Amino acid sequence: MVDREGPLAFITFNRPKVLNAMNRQTKEEVLAVLKELATDDDVRVIIFRGAGEKAFVAGADVKEFADVRPMDQREDRRRLRYYETIAGYPKPVIAMIDGYCLGGGCELALACDLRLASEEARLGQPEINLGIIPGGGGTQRLPRLVGEGKALQLILTGDIVAAAEAKAMGLVEEVVPREELEAKTREIALKIAEKSPVAVRLALEAVRAASRMEIEAGLEYEATLFALLFATEDKAEGVKAFLEKRKPVFKGR
Ligand code: COA
Repeated sequence: MVDREGPLAFITFNRPKVLNAMNRQTKEEVLAVLKELATDDDVRVIIFRGAGEKAFVAGADVKEFADVRPMDQREDRRRLRYYETIAGYPKPVIAMIDGYCLGGGCELALACDLRLASEEARLGQPEINLGIIPGGGGTQRLPRLVGEGKALQLILTGDIVAAAEAKAMGLVEEVVPREELEAKTREIALKIAEKSPVAVRLALEAVRAASRMEIEAGLEYEATLFALLFATEDKAEGVKAFLEKRKPVFKGR
């Protein structure tokens, strides 16, 4: 389900009967929506959320695991590039997490740029209980976010942690009471939506590169993107507005 709201697009996982577990169709639908929104300049920030009060996303749909053959699973994952598409999306993506955020749901949140949670959020990588391991980037993105020790603790025990503990380990950026989650998410998303979309895009590219680049190359990359922004109308407007003591009007050029 997609709801447009000015510069924001909310994508809602809407399978509440199975705690919004993602099956093949869910993933294909999300990818199709993301493809459409990528080229829509009016949309500045994407927000993922779950329908109902119980879950953000309780994981990949376990029913689909029943009779999958290993090579089919591997090829399918490579073809779909679901989590990779989210992690490399050209606009900021926020996970608005209320209730269960498990397995593939947690990996989806890890692929997002920001994770905002309610006090009722419950996060974890319980795949080990099914005799498997995270397969949507969890073994790679989780340690980068929370450190190897905490990542292994979650992945090896399959324990589900409450929002406060998730915040303490850096797994989510904010925790607020359930009734404030939407307002808080909107506030942060709208603040980002006001900035120069070109600067936002390059900030995303530079910071996302940090975890895959060695420091010297990363600093060179940052310097290049920084210099590139000096060629934009938005940079000229931003500096001019500051000197004229007014709010800038960014056009994304
Ligand atoms: N895939 C498919 N169905 C799922 C699901 C998933 N990942 N998570 C929950 N569901 C379904 C349940 O099978 C149940 O369906 P049913 O009503 O037809 O029996 C329904 O959602 C409600 O879940 P239920 O287990 O009854 O709720 P609960 O409050 O007792 O427990 C959880 C909630 C999240 C602890 C439990 O559902 C769970 O462990 N889910 C699986 C989580 C998981 O392993 N995710 C990783 C997959 S890789």
